[in-house]
Amino acid sequence: MSAPHPLTPPQVTAFYDAHRTVRQYETQPDGSPLPLPPGHLDVLLHAAQRAPTDATAQLYSLIRLTRPAVRARMAELTTNAHMATASEAFVVCADVRRTAQVLAASGRAPGHWPAIAVHFGLGDAVMAGTNLLTAAELLGYQGCWIGGVLNGLGGILDLLKLPPGVLPFAGLTVGRPAETPPQRPRVPRPLVVHTDEYRDGTEEELRAAVAVMNPIAARGDRPGDWARLLGAYFGAGGSMEGREAHLVAALKRQGLWAGEAAAHPPSAQSGHD
Ligand SMILES: Cc1cc2nc3c(=O)[nH]c(=O)nc-3n(C[C@H](O)[C@H](O)[C@H](O)COP(=O)(O)O)c2cc1C
Repeated sequence: MSAPHPLTPPQVTAFYDAHRTVRQYETQPDGSPLPLPPGHLDVLLHAAQRAPTDATAQLYSLIRLTRPAVRARMAELTTNAHMATASEAFVVCADVRRTAQVLAASGRAPGHWPAIAVHFGLGDAVMAGTNLLTAAELLGYQGCWIGGVLNGLGGILDLLKLPPGVLPFAGLTVGRPAETPPQRPRVPRPLVVHTDEYRDGTEEELRAAVAVMNPIAARGDRPGDWARLLGAYFGAGGSMEGREAHLVAALKRQGLWAGEAAAHPPSAQSGHD
């Protein structure tokens, strides 16, 4: 079955060109979240649940944040203030717990596959969250993914009472934009889309990509320097090194750390995954 009314290629391009990450949303006069009109939340959740899923398992959960105190605390823990002010705020999680429970409820012993859990669980979580955000954009909203969950992972596990088998991937906020950010650039396609085999970009191509991407790092009057921004995130001494230990600790706490264990590789694999 195809889409009820297929869009034209320019319409599809225009839809994706309208995407903006938005961090400031329209609120009620007192600054509290503006509720979505009736039915809109259901559309977003429906879209999330229609996402394709590996091995049929739906290895994800969404935690919808509603209580103002929880929203406020999540804004602190993620260092993203819009967790408190957006019309809707979620934490998108990998979740292998429910599958283990389904197996147990039908008298089957769950296997041991922590690396697979991370691979499948994060994949499913991203697909569900992306569907949710795309549906929101189709309804005229914008949103923001929040990798800042990694800033306060231990506190988030506690606050949301996330049991073993459940790992936050990111927050996701949705609302009516109260800012109009410019369209942000992307790395030139030849560096991202490879044909038949992987190809490293030349130094010249990489320098050109940095020049294309520089505006994404501009702050106020300060011109952007994308390589500097990437260095602050991913370079030696950057913030990702600081996050690494917290993520490893959370993986261990949630029973999702494969470590060096090579487990027992199956001798043969068959069927659709
Ligand atoms: C997984 C993920 C995590 C992100 N985390 C944050 C975040 O913590 N805070 C934030 O302000 N933006 C966050 N973003 C938004 C990105 O900064 C944004 O998508 C990127 O700059 C490109 O901008 P655009 O979406 O408007 O094209 C995140 C995006 C993704 C996909």
